[in-house]
Amino acid sequence: MMSVLKINGGKRLSGEVSVHGAKNSALPVLAATLAAGGKCEIHNCPRLSDVEAAGAILSYLGCRTGWSDGVFSVDSSDVSRCEIPDELMREMRSSIAFLGAMLTRCECVKLSMPGGCELGPRPIDLHIDALGRMGARVEERDGCIIFRRGGRLRGCRVPLSFPSVGATENIMTAASTAKGTTVITNAAREPEISDLADFLNSCGARIGGAGGSTVVIEGVERLHGCIHSVIPDRIEAATYMAAAAITGGSVLLKNVIAEHVMPVVPSFEEMGCVISFCGSDIKIEAPQRLHAVRYIRTMPYPGFPTDAQAIVMACTCRADGSSVFAETIFDSRFRHTAELARMGARIKTDGRIAVVEGVSRLCGAPVAATDLRGAAALVTAGLAAEGTTTVSQLRHLDRGYQDIETALAGLGADIKRTDG
Ligand code: UD1
Repeated sequence: MMSVLKINGGKRLSGEVSVHGAKNSALPVLAATLAAGGKCEIHNCPRLSDVEAAGAILSYLGCRTGWSDGVFSVDSSDVSRCEIPDELMREMRSSIAFLGAMLTRCECVKLSMPGGCELGPRPIDLHIDALGRMGARVEERDGCIIFRRGGRLRGCRVPLSFPSVGATENIMTAASTAKGTTVITNAAREPEISDLADFLNSCGARIGGAGGSTVVIEGVERLHGCIHSVIPDRIEAATYMAAAAITGGSVLLKNVIAEHVMPVVPSFEEMGCVISFCGSDIKIEAPQRLHAVRYIRTMPYPGFPTDAQAIVMACTCRADGSSVFAETIFDSRFRHTAELARMGARIKTDGRIAVVEGVSRLCGAPVAATDLRGAAALVTAGLAAEGTTTVSQLRHLDRGYQDIETALAGLGADIKRTDG
């Protein structure tokens, strides 16, 4: 029996909620533990199905892994395999994150092609080009992609044509033990890039400029293990802000880095919310009825994050007025709109543009999650809908949210997980 979330909407949320470690930091950091060649302790690591999938890949490759008191340990002293089979690749879309780290340990790495996903095709050309420049020879055969290097990878200039998060991470990790210096230009500037650089530097790497557009990596002979604590999840924070906003609530978020959340703050303010910051806390107080946002365009950091698009869109469904969204990062990231429409939302999409005409009431309905952030959008809308919303296909939600129903129930939501 597949479980579902049952939400009786209309409860105003209030109280405190603590944000977990960031999924999008934990995954590349876990992959990079492979490059460390020793024992790493990852603190503040969220317990998510994607993290379990990363752990399964590390074990398959020969690492010793385990949880203890919320700390995920990886001992990568011995690596016994250099390929990731199809079943494990499919478990986690971001398994391509292992490529750079595997190349630091293996002369020949074989991955099954990551293929498409729920956000449209996910090309890896930028990863392949960059590693090619560093001296890896790439070959595609039988649905697999094989990377070979003779000797160490070579540091070089890597100009990225687009600031890809995953490519920047793979190059940084691979370049950590390359011969000579690598300079990435037009690098992604997401906070998760800086977190990975901090992790690698704690392992002995020499990376400068992470978080900016030019990242310089001076290759070292080898890395070692370390203790690292993952940064808070800015998208989970945005999700709780949306939950507070759509219910006219007042919520204090604990364990947040204000600067990382800043790209979504103007949108919540435009909706009429009052947001205040104090150390690692953010307080959000929402009006009874939200205002529309004029125009949200997803952009690489520090622009509005594509991962918050669906969640903020859910808020605008019940706002006063019309809101426009332009999705510039992914091709098909509006699949949640059809499900929101089942709840009475009025949304028109055309390619990468969505226009939301706010309605005064949403109605509870059975809806199915289509992807991770789309799932969070349905939960958000369900919190404000009249009657019962049943969200199915929770495997999408569980990839990226730890105990979301417990957190929301703690804020006063009527939400529970039951067997379908
Ligand atoms: C990461 C995040 C994801 C977020 C995204 C954008 C993780 C685990 N995932 O994904 O949640 O939505 O950043 O902020 O951190 N592209 C190419 N060629 C490539 C690589 C990417 O064309 O070789 C394109 C992609 O198709 C996409 C865009 O670049 O259109 C952004 O992708 P990228 O920044 O690489 O995102 P991910 O690292 O996959």
